[in-house]
Amino acid sequence: MLELKKVSRLFGGLQALHQVDMHVLEGRIVGLIGPNGAGKTTLINNISGLDHPTSGTIHFEGREIHNLPPHRITGLGIARTYQNIRLFGEMTVLENLLISQHGRGQATVFDSLVFTPRFRAEERRLKDAALQLLERFQLAGMAHLLAGNLPYGDQRRLEMARALATGPKLLLLDEPTAGMNPIETEQLGEQILRLRDEQLTVLVIEHDMSLIHQVCDEIYVLNFGQIIAHGTPDVIKHNPQVIEAYLGREEDAELAGG
Ligand SMILES: Nc1ncnc2c1ncn2[C@@H]1O[C@H](COP(=O)(O)OP(=O)(O)O)[C@@H](O)[C@H]1O
Ligand SMILES: [Mg+2]
Repeated sequence: MLELKKVSRLFGGLQALHQVDMHVLEGRIVGLIGPNGAGKTTLINNISGLDHPTSGTIHFEGREIHNLPPHRITGLGIARTYQNIRLFGEMTVLENLLISQHGRGQATVFDSLVFTPRFRAEERRLKDAALQLLERFQLAGMAHLLAGNLPYGDQRRLEMARALATGPKLLLLDEPTAGMNPIETEQLGEQILRLRDEQLTVLVIEHDMSLIHQVCDEIYVLNFGQIIAHGTPDVIKHNPQVIEAYLGREEDAELAGG
C-alpha cells in the first residue's frame, strides 16, 4: 500500500533520513520507533507531503506521491496527527471536525448558494458523522467547547478524530499518547485496535513500548536517519542493535522492560 524506496532527506549538512526503505501492507498496524532526533517525524512529514525527500521515491497504492502537496495526499486517503498538536484552538471541537470533512461532500457550489435540499441533507449527514466520531473518542460532551481549552489528552484524541474525519485509508500517528496518563494511553491503544478491525492501515510513532506491543503487527526502528531493524515486536525487543541504539537514552529502560 505504501512503499518508500531509498528515501533520503538532507537539512543542510544533516542527514535526517538516509536511504530509508519501508513497505507498509494494507490493514497492518506498523510501529516506528527510535531515539529522539532519529528522523521519525521527518519521515511522516515526507509521506504526508509537508516535506519532500532530497532523493528516493514514495508510492501510495502504486501512485508516486513524493512531490505532491499535503492536500492532494489527504485526498488520496492519507491522514495524520502531529507530535505538536495542530488544532484550531479558537474553534469548537465540532467545528474542528466539520472543517476537516471539507471537500468530502457531493454538493456543488450552486447547491450551497441556494441552500438546496441536497445541500441541507449533506450538511446533516456530515454533521452526524462528525458527532459519531466525537462519541467514539469520548468527546461528545465537549462538542461546543473551544478546542484550545481542552486538556492535553482530549486534544490528542480530537486530533485523531479530525484525521479520521477526512476518511483515510492510511493513518499516520506521531506520538499520539504524548502527555497522556496511563489510563488514557491504554484506551488509545484500544482505539487503534478498533481501526484495525475497520481495515485501516496505521503507521504509528510511539515511545510507549507497552502500547507498541499491544497494537503493532511489525516495527521499524530508525536511528540517525537509517532503518536499523524491522520485524515483529518480539524480535525487535531482543535485537542487539536496537538495544544498543537505545543505550544511555531514557527510553532504554522502557524498551528493556517492555
Ligand atoms: N525543518 C528542519 N530543518 C532542519 N533540521 C531539521 C528539520 N526538521 C528536523 N530536523 C532535524 O532532523 C533530525 C530528525 O528530526 P525529527 O524527524 O524531528 O526526529 P524524531 O521525530 O525522530 O525525534 C533532527 O536532528 C532535527 O533537528
Ligand atoms: Mg518526532
